[in-house]
Amino acid sequence: MPAKLISGKEIAQQIREELKQEVEDMKAKHNVVPGLVTILVGENPASVSYVTAKQKTAHALGFNSIQDSQPEDLSEEDLLALVEKYNSDPNIHGILVQLPLPKHINETKVLYAIDPDKDVDGFHPVNVGKLMIGEGVFLPCTPAGIQQLLIRSGVETSGAEVVVVGRSNIVGKPIANIMIQKQKGANATVTVCHTRTRNMKEHTLRADILIVAAGVPKAVTADMVKEGAVVIDVGVNRIGKTESGKAILCGDVDFDAVKEKASLITPVPGGVGPMTITMLMLNTVKAAKLANGLL
Ligand code: GUN
Repeated sequence: MPAKLISGKEIAQQIREELKQEVEDMKAKHNVVPGLVTILVGENPASVSYVTAKQKTAHALGFNSIQDSQPEDLSEEDLLALVEKYNSDPNIHGILVQLPLPKHINETKVLYAIDPDKDVDGFHPVNVGKLMIGEGVFLPCTPAGIQQLLIRSGVETSGAEVVVVGRSNIVGKPIANIMIQKQKGANATVTVCHTRTRNMKEHTLRADILIVAAGVPKAVTADMVKEGAVVIDVGVNRIGKTESGKAILCGDVDFDAVKEKASLITPVPGGVGPMTITMLMLNTVKAAKLANGLL
């Protein structure tokens, strides 16, 4: 029987409604409005579209939301000064610097400069370390979104074999870290595969839950998937454009073939994607609470 779809669009919408209510309550009871700044350097088309979507959602939830667009040739020094300005702005609770940054800017240096209490991406080493020891406040948005998809779809993670394909700092490593925690929606046995993994299929075939963030279109084929597995496809590959200029997307999983074996699967688009932005909103609400002693 073909897999059921996990609709990230619907689950994200549900969480956004919960957040909207929370924001209204925070305003009414504590006069606190979550503040988010998204900093974009240059005009990378994918980054422009991500940042625009983040701003749109933040406005829809009633945040104080600022888009700070800077030219491609902004110096590293000026970007660090900008981060510093928002670090000390009491109306801004969350700071997001959209990646990738232009080549002349040291990304690590910029991410380290963000106040860990405003690090709504969860990329600062303090937050990475807290996640590792089970004290995470700001979980990176895409992995946190994946965990919510599993929880809200009723997938049993405790004791499950989770196999992650990809070891990026943004998805692969943090989702592995989240899933091994001794916590609800985790408690899994986790394997991380990467470009140097010998016989990838031997690992992926054991997966009860297969999370694919390889950055390669259709990297996972049906012969690599166990019958009845839950498959989460994090890939967003632009493989062309429609006549009207809209990007045609495909995931890292061969969806049409794999859906015949999986029990549950996320589509691309409409799977993990909408969750990432939603978890950014959740982190910003958390940051606003943290700054106001409400967490
Ligand atoms: N670029 C691609 N994904 C992300 C993300 O989650 N956060 C930031 N800041 N940049 C990104």
